[in-house]
Amino acid sequence: MRMYDLIEKKKHGESLTRQEIRQMVRGFVEGEIPDYQMAAMLMAICFKGMEEDEITGLTLEMAASGDVADLSGIEGVKVDKHSTGGVGDKTTLVIGPLAAALGVKVAKMSGRGLGHTGGTIDKLESIPGFETAIPRERFFRIVNETGIAVIGQSGNMVPADKKLYALRDVTATVDSIPLIASSIMSKKIAAGSDGIVLDVKTGSGAFMKELEDSIALAREMVAIGTGAGRRCCALITDMDVPLGSAIGNSLEVIEAIETLKGKGPEDLTEVCLWLCAHMLHLGGKGQIRGCYDMAKGALMDGRGLQTLAAMVKAQGGDPAYILEPERFEKAPFCLALQAEEEGFITHMDTARCGIVSVILGAGRERKEDSIDYSAGILLEKKYGDFVKKGDIIAVLRASRKELLEEASKKLLSAYTIGSEAPPSKKLVYAMVTKDQIVRF
Ligand code: URA
Repeated sequence: MRMYDLIEKKKHGESLTRQEIRQMVRGFVEGEIPDYQMAAMLMAICFKGMEEDEITGLTLEMAASGDVADLSGIEGVKVDKHSTGGVGDKTTLVIGPLAAALGVKVAKMSGRGLGHTGGTIDKLESIPGFETAIPRERFFRIVNETGIAVIGQSGNMVPADKKLYALRDVTATVDSIPLIASSIMSKKIAAGSDGIVLDVKTGSGAFMKELEDSIALAREMVAIGTGAGRRCCALITDMDVPLGSAIGNSLEVIEAIETLKGKGPEDLTEVCLWLCAHMLHLGGKGQIRGCYDMAKGALMDGRGLQTLAAMVKAQGGDPAYILEPERFEKAPFCLALQAEEEGFITHMDTARCGIVSVILGAGRERKEDSIDYSAGILLEKKYGDFVKKGDIIAVLRASRKELLEEASKKLLSAYTIGSEAPPSKKLVYAMVTKDQIVRF
């Protein structure tokens, strides 16, 4: 069938066959299908959706469009974790080492930050010497010896997603559940782990602002992962408020280190322990509650921190920065942002907090932009806190003084202050497996 006919079919809400999806993905990757036709198809998918078996078909064809990792050279059960993206989300740096310390292998391929969300690879590269592009044999050796390695995605992994994502980004077709689910799961399936824990964010800093949409996305992704023969589950976690206090690369690494010492912010620690518990569970280490306690034990006795230091050393980084985080270079300029009125913080525009960190230099506006690893924000007050006029609500850090003024105005506008204490928020809203949705 011609691409024109496939677009026509989807425009009328009909399902595409696996053969048609294969033809479409291959034709697009090979350049035979032009961007304008694929853009029309993406928009038709946004409006008409896809059936579950179409989404699975699309995901598997995308995963097969380039290199697929064969992790059989790594002993034991390999469990991956993926977050749909957030602000201050440094969970991988905490739970990867914790899970590895407890005997689950973590052979992780992570991404860079784009837009208002940060990326694990950028955070790790803020550690002097840390290498994120390493050959396969060395990657396998590190995972076998230390239990964990985190690298960037290889150049030819899921080229279909690279091309499709770039097109979605400029055609307003990002926020479609079938397209997000196939984009994320194609990469996870190509990355080769046996188990996948999905951290699906919900709220003002997430792709999915509404809980029910986040659950629908999680269900779709878990169905795809399970259908592809992987152990898979999802937690729906809060991203209506930034996670922890630090936003920005080395600031987040320092906060992850503090968390691995048992001295991290409560919200970050709790989300990390639940995510880690699910990684351990998928890795065959027992029931969720027991796995939670195991994760807490490895956090409190320093095994997680030692594993992070071992991974950093094995990947060429200086482990002294992990054991003495005061070594990280500090941005030369800082500004303490003060509350302009008294009251409770009743809302935080979390995406805006992420944008402020980008303005300060911690993220990229375009792919080719470079990053200032020391720039970012330390939140002193968050949702639910009471502030008096003049209280410091956040400290902004930058390497260029002139960035601070615009950033501080924008950050102030991300806070809403009211006279009544807002309701407390859950950190984990639901768990989704192939058989059930458990709401907390
Ligand atoms: N992250 C991805 O990798 N793809 C999407 O479509 C959205 C978030």
